[in-house]
Amino acid sequence: MKVIKNVLQMQRIALKHLKDDDEIGLVPTMGALHDGHISLFLKSKKNDDVTIVSIFVNPVQFGPDEDYLKYPRPIKKDLEICKKNHVDYVFMPSVNDMFSQNHRTFTEVKTMQDILCGHFRPIHFRGVATVIVKLFNISYANRAYFGMKDFQQLKIIEKMTKDLNFRTKIISCPIVREKNGLALSSRNSYLSVDERNASVNISKILKEAMQDFKHKDLVSVKKNTLDKLQRIINSKIDYAEVVNFNDLSIADKNTKKAVFVVAIWIGKTRLIDNIVMTKQSTK
Ligand code: PAF
Repeated sequence: MKVIKNVLQMQRIALKHLKDDDEIGLVPTMGALHDGHISLFLKSKKNDDVTIVSIFVNPVQFGPDEDYLKYPRPIKKDLEICKKNHVDYVFMPSVNDMFSQNHRTFTEVKTMQDILCGHFRPIHFRGVATVIVKLFNISYANRAYFGMKDFQQLKIIEKMTKDLNFRTKIISCPIVREKNGLALSSRNSYLSVDERNASVNISKILKEAMQDFKHKDLVSVKKNTLDKLQRIINSKIDYAEVVNFNDLSIADKNTKKAVFVVAIWIGKTRLIDNIVMTKQSTK
């Protein structure tokens, strides 16, 4: 495994692999790696000749009052995890190398970036889309891997990739959960024991919503779910919404494949989760 800290060097290495007809897989991360990330590495190891994992806590996707400075950065442990999982390259650029003082170019995915999390984190998805464009241009990836936990992020990146004609194929990967249902997230490390116990209810409630959606009407599913989420101790809901699987538009009674997406504060930690829901066939 090679650790590359320089943009030009990573680009040169990737270009060489491209010329050798190697298929390149990119797993973009912000580090604090967990089993969710590892599931992406393993998928790339299966599909690609070369796996590049980027570890970069991207400053332009954090708002001024967000947790950029306190975001966990367990570099040594992360590198051990990458090595153990036979990652070929870990790309760990500095902030200055990725975003010079004079950086002026940003990528926006209109409308999709402004709803749900975007409503509460106005510059977030512009920052994500911009760093992903840069990582695509640095890695020449044939495939890039994203977890479905960040469902809005996944849909925005899919749309951006299509709109901007990138050759990179977006591979979406299922949410990895603890045995108790809690979706894995680097931010789970902020939770106290009590908060963790409270957080477990989110996935339980979403699972019930998924069951209900099969045969109950959307309005009652939404209302019951919201009622239950509001009863979680020490919680504050940013949003709890049902959207179309394909394009994040608000679901209606005709929607066959929907996603219940939620963002909830448990104490001082903001957690997101979602579940895909399909109607029971009447045939
Ligand atoms: O999901 C993340 O960890 C980040 O948003 C990403 C995709 C690595 C971009 O910084």
